[in-house]
Amino acid sequence: MTSFTHVELAIDAAVATIRLNRPEKKNALNPEMHQNIHDALTEVEHDKSVKVVVVTGTGDAFCGGMDLEKCFLEPFDDPEQFDASNQLAVSWSRRLKAFPAVTVAKVNGWCFGHGFQLAGICDIVITSEDAVFGMSEINFGIFPGGGTMWVAAHNMTRKQALYYALTGESFSGREAVALGMATRAVPAAELDAAVDAIVASLANKNVHALRTTKQVYESAIDLDFAKSIDMELAKLYELSYRTENEWIRSALEQFKRKAYRPGLQSYSLEAER
Ligand code: COA
Repeated sequence: MTSFTHVELAIDAAVATIRLNRPEKKNALNPEMHQNIHDALTEVEHDKSVKVVVVTGTGDAFCGGMDLEKCFLEPFDDPEQFDASNQLAVSWSRRLKAFPAVTVAKVNGWCFGHGFQLAGICDIVITSEDAVFGMSEINFGIFPGGGTMWVAAHNMTRKQALYYALTGESFSGREAVALGMATRAVPAAELDAAVDAIVASLANKNVHALRTTKQVYESAIDLDFAKSIDMELAKLYELSYRTENEWIRSALEQFKRKAYRPGLQSYSLEAER
């Protein structure tokens, strides 16, 4: 376990957990925390065995958003400092959005502003049913910025994104699933177990296959069908090269021997030994 000032990082084999740890301020992101997140991501990047990164918060908040005092109010009269604090925030968001490992947001409570964005850039979001999501920016006279509008536009429909950005109305974790902001909502008492089960399933998969699946998804949403087919074939050949054709040599061989059913479970390299 590595403890940064307001962020804790634990790496356990294939799984890294980044915990925002400033519960007395609802895990609002002050400049030190933005730097802490960068430092945690750097440490995770150096560990090539990590397949999954879980992001969560301590206490009753996932993340209350940008620290409104430390990031906006206090540095406002110094444009350089104001911009530096914003750049620090958006630069870790860019890194996390493009992160090679699978990212899972475990939303345990309040989820506003930059916290809303943090959940929105993760690949998978598991939330407690009674967590509270919101783009509250309109309530202090601005709009969701720094990537938050992008997240709303890419996860929610136009009608829903605009409704919640324009009204600043919050919604529950249960509603977040219907709105496209979360993958699954569970009772708060079951949140840890639900995330652990999904993480265990992911950790059991081939690391190159996980990474390539993310890359192919990101490219596919920007390409037309014909170009996506070309890209997907090229990526299949690249993945086959990286894994020395493991899917043919091991997985499909095991399927032939009826050792597993790929529609229902993963193959096991152990089964060959
Ligand atoms: N920035 C700075 N401080 C924040 C914060 C933020 N985004 N969110 C919460 N805090 C601080 C509060 O000021 C308070 O500090 P204090 O104890 O020193 O007075 C502490 O966290 C606890 O918050 P409090 O408001 O007392 O808790 P609550 O349970 O009544 O309400 C929220 C929780 C999340 C609804 C409320 O704090 C809130 O609206 N926060 C702002 C959320 C937001 O709009 N974020 C968008 C930022 S871009």
